[in-house]
Amino acid sequence: MMGKNIVIKIGGSLLFTRNIEINYKKIAEFCNIIKEKINFDTFVIVCGGGVLARKYIDYVRAIGGNEALCDAFGIEISRINSKLIIASLGNFAYPQVPKSIEELSIAQLFKKIIVMGGLQPGQSTTSVTIEVAEYINAKDLIILTDVDGIYDKDPRKFEDAKLFKKLTYKELQELFLNLSGDNQAAAGEYRMFDAVSLQILKRSKIKAFITSGKIYPNLKKFGTEKEILLVLSFRTK
Ligand code: UTP
Repeated sequence: MMGKNIVIKIGGSLLFTRNIEINYKKIAEFCNIIKEKINFDTFVIVCGGGVLARKYIDYVRAIGGNEALCDAFGIEISRINSKLIIASLGNFAYPQVPKSIEELSIAQLFKKIIVMGGLQPGQSTTSVTIEVAEYINAKDLIILTDVDGIYDKDPRKFEDAKLFKKLTYKELQELFLNLSGDNQAAAGEYRMFDAVSLQILKRSKIKAFITSGKIYPNLKKFGTEKEILLVLSFRTK
């Protein structure tokens, strides 16, 4: 019988504190929960770049590097972050960071937890997560973030922000493309759904649930569902 297919994205803000210190406590807490989930067919963790990636990107941009070069730095940092999780998971993890879907398919053969970061310029690790979900046939997409779902404007800045209970793909696309403006495709600035994420969501017909990921019990609960994709992003901005 096939086991569960699980994809979890951990945002960079889970890995680092605001002062760019490695967050020992959160990483240990996260890895301990993950180690309990032994019943899986394919289990992929996708790491974001976080504040460390943005520091590098800011520097490269300041010295005149183009956006593709900035993205390349973001990708490298997300892979270094992945190695941090691999080291923390020890023997539970596949020891290499897959750099492509091909390398992921090879890693899958070893039945260990796979940890990966970015793939190519022009997108965020949310897109990587959705690409992986499509590839391993995850049925649902659960996005755990630091707010309760998708609002018409940033709920941390506007008290009257309205929470959407349900959005069709088309409404989501309009909302994000209109709201995110020109900065949407700058390195380090990709939002929860960048253009690539939206396109893959559309073609794969994956259903997305968005809920607050501030508390770990959510992770425990969702991790017991059948085939699940979990995106955990602790944005501090
Ligand atoms: P993320 O956008 O995923 O990290 O990758 P983040 O902004 O820290 O997101 P959270 O807070 O962890 O959720 C960092 C940067 O790496 C580049 C982009 O520039 C991105 O902003 N990147 C990442 C790519 O170019 N391609 C990828 O496939 C992934």
